[in-house]
Amino acid sequence: MAPYGEKAKKYQGGFIDLSQGTPVDPTPKFIQDALANASNSPSYPLTAGSEKLRSAIRDWATSNLGATGEFDVLPVIGSKEFVALLPTFLQSKTVLYPKVAYPTYLVGALMASAKAIPVEIDAKSWPVADLAWINSPSNPTGQVQTDSEILAAINWARENNSVVASDECYLSFSKLSKSILALTGGNNDGVLAVHSLSKRSNLAGYRAAFVIGDLKLIDQIRQIRKHAGLMVPLPVQQAMIAALSDNNHAIEQAERYARRRSRLISAFSEIGFTIEHSQAGLYIWCSKNEDCFKTVEWFANLGILVTPGSFYGSDKFIRVALTTSDENIDEVVKRINP
Ligand SMILES: Cc1ncc(COP(=O)(O)O)c(C=O)c1O
Repeated sequence: MAPYGEKAKKYQGGFIDLSQGTPVDPTPKFIQDALANASNSPSYPLTAGSEKLRSAIRDWATSNLGATGEFDVLPVIGSKEFVALLPTFLQSKTVLYPKVAYPTYLVGALMASAKAIPVEIDAKSWPVADLAWINSPSNPTGQVQTDSEILAAINWARENNSVVASDECYLSFSKLSKSILALTGGNNDGVLAVHSLSKRSNLAGYRAAFVIGDLKLIDQIRQIRKHAGLMVPLPVQQAMIAALSDNNHAIEQAERYARRRSRLISAFSEIGFTIEHSQAGLYIWCSKNEDCFKTVEWFANLGILVTPGSFYGSDKFIRVALTTSDENIDEVVKRINP
């Protein structure tokens, strides 16, 4: 990406980075305050998370995700770190991950010396494995999986006595997408839902995430973590409690992204791009029907950096992140269709 970045940075009118899904809108003040007020923190934090945090995650899972039945919760440092380590925690031998996907699913399988198999969305076509990842809304495609697609993944796990881990870090931005926890019928065996406050609450710098689901699996992970560390710092736990206690800021942020999404989708459509999926999440997945690096170069000549789809397993598409200011979105629209 470096040559494209350098080219884009030379653009007279200013560089616009749409290549990274890193939040740019501010962390809400009340969450910053919760962190600051907990800055006197001499003792080790509990691996399991404080009682208050555990109950905040439980309540949120019930009221926002539709979780039912018995489930456990565990705060984790960043969901990226958890995605990378889950196959190691579970000692998985074979890991399935979506063909077009966030690269950490594959990296995590390799770290555990597991066999990694890219698969289609349709779980009916999946081979036997210990662990399968699903990700809805998806990075990079913005695809939202249907209830029946998610149910097929749950059934695959039940039939094979395996684990399905649902990476739901973009869920709060879509009324269309459902948590896997809303579809288990209260039987959460073999199911893990991975959540992050990075995007929902603009907390990527805090590394604040958690996992919800199967009692035995979460206990297994917690027991290992008691010795491996990776405890969530106490001030961050306090910030998480604050973030989970309020939905308004998350709704406002979701609306911000929705406006940016519809503005860019219209602009790309007007100049003949093919848009696929892109219903939710933080990305637009689109194509100029040419090699993705040609499109990346076209954008770089306009001072805009986007990501080639080949990074995620697709050569003709590019990924455009919505994580930039409204002013920059206006500027992108002007530059691509002057
Ligand atoms: C699909 C997916 N999962 C997980 C993550 C990690 O998020 P975080 O580590 O900030 O919780 C990302 C970040 O971009 C992502 O796109």
